Amino acid sequence: MSDVRVWVNGSMVGPDEPSLAALDHGVTVGDGAFETCKIVDGEIFAANRHLARMDRTLAGLGLATADRDLVQQGVDTVLAAGERIGFGRLRYTITGGPGPLGSDRGDRGMTYIVTAAQAAPPASTTAVATVPWTRNERGATAGLKTTSYAENVIALAHAKDKGGTEAIFGNTRGELCEGTGSNIFVVVDGVLRTPLLDSGCLAGITRELAIEWARGAGIEVREEALPMTVLETADEAFLTSTTRDVQPIHAVDGRELRAPGPVTMRVQEAFAKASAASFNP
Ligand SMILES: Cc1ncc(COP(=O)(O)O)c(C=O)c1O
Repeated sequence: MSDVRVWVNGSMVGPDEPSLAALDHGVTVGDGAFETCKIVDGEIFAANRHLARMDRTLAGLGLATADRDLVQQGVDTVLAAGERIGFGRLRYTITGGPGPLGSDRGDRGMTYIVTAAQAAPPASTTAVATVPWTRNERGATAGLKTTSYAENVIALAHAKDKGGTEAIFGNTRGELCEGTGSNIFVVVDGVLRTPLLDSGCLAGITRELAIEWARGAGIEVREEALPMTVLETADEAFLTSTTRDVQPIHAVDGRELRAPGPVTMRVQEAFAKASAASFNP
């Protein structure tokens, strides 16, 4: 991990150097918001959309609005702290800050953390596995990008045991929802479909761009409630996420799919073309 650049509350620190209070609410109860952005040639893609989602997560958690100048200072500092990162991941995390033990919040200000590192480019296709646990579409943190991600850790380990690189959740209504760090699209009867946001999935930035740019290229996209069983019959499926972009799925629970199928390929082309033309869409 030594090649990860870390900035905390205004200063660069070593990746293994202690830099947070042990009672930081992000540590004790997972009370925080984060964003993961794609770095391409030393710059972050879709920076404004990430900042806007950070605001929504903080508001949903009942935390104060982030100091954007401070976030920007952290972003600029980690990006400039070494060789230009050709492809990588930048993450900023804002927690409730030092607090009392337990779920009450303290009043000593929020903690700002920014990290950046090179990353391997995404695999050209992937396998996914469904998991027996549900997303709670009515939960207090539904649709928020919070640091309370232990459910995702458990689900991803389960999927990896089953040979996948991503776990797929249904929600409490038995509908298709999302992955641990990705959104999902399927093709049924030749039409591209993806769960509605009320399924409890995160409003993925790649999801919204893929929908926008696919529609712009003349591809019909339906946001609709889909039963979990759609994964047993879909002709094509793909994941979207900041570091995967549009990633075709070649197997769901061991059932093989054409990857990329014809619709997926069109979306990949539309996404690649539009993202090359607009770095901060
Ligand atoms: C739970 C969850 N769903 C979906 C996504 C995809 O969102 P984005 O496209 O903004 O990376 C993420 C991103 O990490 C996520 O954590």
